[in-house]
Amino acid sequence: MNSKKFEAARRYNETAEVYDRRYKDIQFAKYREVIPEIDLTKSSLIFDIGGGTGLLLEHLKELKQNIIISDLSFEMLKVGKTKCKDGNFVCADSESLPFRQNCCDTAFYFSILQNPESPSPSLSEGFRILNNDGTIAITVLTKIFEEEKLVDILIKIGFSVDKSWKLSIEDLAFVGKKK
Ligand SMILES: C[S@@+](CC[C@H](N)C(=O)[O-])C[C@H]1O[C@@H](n2cnc3c(N)ncnc32)[C@H](O)[C@@H]1O
Repeated sequence: MNSKKFEAARRYNETAEVYDRRYKDIQFAKYREVIPEIDLTKSSLIFDIGGGTGLLLEHLKELKQNIIISDLSFEMLKVGKTKCKDGNFVCADSESLPFRQNCCDTAFYFSILQNPESPSPSLSEGFRILNNDGTIAITVLTKIFEEEKLVDILIKIGFSVDKSWKLSIEDLAFVGKKK
């Protein structure tokens, strides 16, 4: 593991117990603005990459589809597993996912892409595991990412970008498809 990843894992491991208290409201506000842009009824398998403590799983609790939460921080996942005993939590680096190609219908990246050196390897992994026409949905910090640059990266990888916009709080959001 390179030092930036190691540092991210350490930081999130150390703060896992307080994450929900600090960030639940802000993350839920993001979900409320992004999820309505996607038709999840067509997704049978959903991945939440860098899904941490499973806040998105809580938000989508009425959904019948399978949701897999993967994250680099074991302690974040442990908090999630304690809250949601039958949830599917997998400890994995977003740049090297232990999932086969073309296996999922929707991949979420909520507030994770500021952590790796570059967003491209993680998004390329998303492209690999998504089915053709599968949906990708991303939020990133406005202070770190420029909208046009991230759109360019997504298009270079092979995604179409259906919508990119500024959320009412803090982040930029992108919804696209694997073409
Ligand atoms: C700000 S939190 C967001 C968590 C979750 N997506 C949410 O909406 O609450 C960022 C998450 O990214 C995870 N992360 C950082 N680098 C990662 C990597 N290389 N692979 C997978 N997860 C990573 C962290 O462990 C942390 O759980």
